[in-house]
Amino acid sequence: TPNREFLQLLPKCEHHMHLEGALSPTLLFKLAAQNNITLPKDDESFQTAESLIARYERFTSLDDFLQYYYIGMSVLIHSSDFEALAWDYFQHASSDGLHHAEVFFDPQAHTTRGVSYSTVLSGFSAACERARKELGITTILTTCFLRHLPPKDCLEVFESEEVQASYKSGAVKAIGLDSSELDFPPELFTELYGKAKKAGLRLTAHAGEEGPATYITSALDVLGVDRIDHGIRLAEDADLMKRIAAQGTLLTVCPLSNVVLRCVEKIEQVPIRTFLDAGVKFSINSDDPAYFGGYILDNYVAVQEAFGLSVQDWETICRAGIEGSWCGEERKSEML
Ligand code: HPA
Ligand code: ZN
Repeated sequence: TPNREFLQLLPKCEHHMHLEGALSPTLLFKLAAQNNITLPKDDESFQTAESLIARYERFTSLDDFLQYYYIGMSVLIHSSDFEALAWDYFQHASSDGLHHAEVFFDPQAHTTRGVSYSTVLSGFSAACERARKELGITTILTTCFLRHLPPKDCLEVFESEEVQASYKSGAVKAIGLDSSELDFPPELFTELYGKAKKAGLRLTAHAGEEGPATYITSALDVLGVDRIDHGIRLAEDADLMKRIAAQGTLLTVCPLSNVVLRCVEKIEQVPIRTFLDAGVKFSINSDDPAYFGGYILDNYVAVQEAFGLSVQDWETICRAGIEGSWCGEERKSEML
């Protein structure tokens, strides 16, 4: 039966990880010192790496996590900081047996605090290039827009010269939608997604993590997404599940994230078996590995321990991940 060694050897693709979510407490404190960044003094969690990790084990919701996620990234200033962050992730992912990574970053979380888009992108791009050369990992970068911010701000960033240049050059190939989900339905971003589609970009959005299954329907029908990030609440709507299975839309499920952010009480409640039985395609992902207690292989292992999947189930999952990737057919056939 599949064990950690078996899971490590599978040709894994990751489609749902936020590069800013790879910021370990160790790197956070190191960069805070280097860049003279003052961390909150009124929050005792920031005293040591240990106290911070202990706080990460007590998240109560997506918003409770996001508050730490945004404070954490305040230590990222220079291009080399972004490169170090992403390189840290690629090294972990490589030892986990990752072949291909489609990764998110949040431009607005940096531009709103005075760090330019080109600083962020040049650091991340350098790490991606190094991951390809030294680790054989191929990558696709996705700009995510922060749904708690006004849609017109998101549009403005999307249309800015440097962001548009990164789409035209192919440095960035997709857009996504993240941050607080409840009260920020997909419909708010109709214009943004219309423009991104016209520009030939791939489209994805977080939907059905904390928000209801109706957000999944509107992400598909109103935004026209090719993929759904999280999507676990799809299991509450049998008709929609049939539709998604029939059209082959990939869900990017993040099991450890769902437990740590209390979307479910335990891994057993992530609808892995339900999706397999319904023919819903999904990949297994780490989301924010430095905050949620594990990288991609830890997520695979947690799923295996909870569900006792067969070799054939794992083949189904990995095949869906490869076929649902946005890399070219040639790269896909190398991985299959
Ligand atoms: N959901 C929404 N926003 C996020 C997440 C997530 O899981 N991770 C980082 N930003
Ligand atoms: Zn996410």
